[in-house]
Amino acid sequence: MSAPNKSYDPVEVTSLHPDEVARMRAEALAAIEAASSLDELKQTRLAHAGDRSPLALANREIGALPPHAKAEAGKRVGGARRDVSEALKRRQAELEDERDQRVLVEEAVDVTLPWDRVQRGARHPVTTTAERMTDVFVSMGFEIVEGPEVEAEWFNFDALNFPPAHPAREMQDTFFVESEESGLVLRTHTSPMQVRALLTRELPVYVVCAGKTFRTDELDATHSPVFHQMEGLVVDEGITMADLRGAIDAFVVGMFGEGLRTRFRPYFFPFTEPSGEVDMECFVCRGASAEPGGEPCRTCRSEGWIELGGCGMVNPRVLIACGVDPERYSGWAFGLGVERTLMFRHGVEDMHDMVEGDVRFTRAFGMEI
Ligand code: DAH
Repeated sequence: MSAPNKSYDPVEVTSLHPDEVARMRAEALAAIEAASSLDELKQTRLAHAGDRSPLALANREIGALPPHAKAEAGKRVGGARRDVSEALKRRQAELEDERDQRVLVEEAVDVTLPWDRVQRGARHPVTTTAERMTDVFVSMGFEIVEGPEVEAEWFNFDALNFPPAHPAREMQDTFFVESEESGLVLRTHTSPMQVRALLTRELPVYVVCAGKTFRTDELDATHSPVFHQMEGLVVDEGITMADLRGAIDAFVVGMFGEGLRTRFRPYFFPFTEPSGEVDMECFVCRGASAEPGGEPCRTCRSEGWIELGGCGMVNPRVLIACGVDPERYSGWAFGLGVERTLMFRHGVEDMHDMVEGDVRFTRAFGMEI
């Protein structure tokens, strides 16, 4: 390092000239005053007090001055830098203060506002109804199973003995996933869980499954493209239709109380043989509305009976598809609509109420456990 240059005069070094130092100081102070936000002030600090600011660069020049000139130039530049630093501190405090005031106003919470305007929700009645329905079977020792809503066509149709050209596979009923060739559908019923249960569980099987099902129906008073079913399945040795009848009767007692008759009507489902539809006596009029001269009944439309769903003895072809020996085992199955059950159990007349999510509807049943 070379020795200080004795002839080096601060007045000759432009950046150390008193006028120049005064100008840099004034410029810095003006910029600080003009900074209108903390972000802007940060930029101003970098520009006027940072390592590469004019005053910092001027300060570096001092080292090269002759000793007699150092003190005076040091005082001048040091004073200017101190002023700038103090101005920064002051402006920083002012701007922080302003921000705090603004936050207090902007983020103020009016604690006098009514707190109960947003209604508290409740569990959806479709959920509570499905739980109540499955509970009846859980209390008889059944287990609950769950399965995918996006289902392989094979589970949804083939294994359940739907012939390849069965009309239920066609587009008007089934939501196909991606392309029709993907082999995937949104399950159109909970019956594929019969197959899944038989393939994954040890025999005997006593299961129920409640869940979402999908069909390409328009939403109207009695239809929804998304609805819920509860499936029941028993496969054991020596199971007969009498067991099915007993299970259905127990379900009706669990859901609607004692003393209601049930009846089977012959029907067709590919996965049960024989198949039936099952009705229960109307729990409101107990059949009286269908008698001559009886009062009309809204719940059963004066028919005296309410349709519960489909059922039957598991078709041996389904057992074979699941690797179960139909010579040794037999079983029954049923499928019931959850929305339908909710509709007639609680007098809900319009499907829209169940899908629109109005909390007033949910709360009306929210107390039910
Ligand atoms: N899966 C049928 C449907 O959605 C309902 C059904 C009928 C289920 C008979 C069954 C059954 O388990 O045995 O229409």
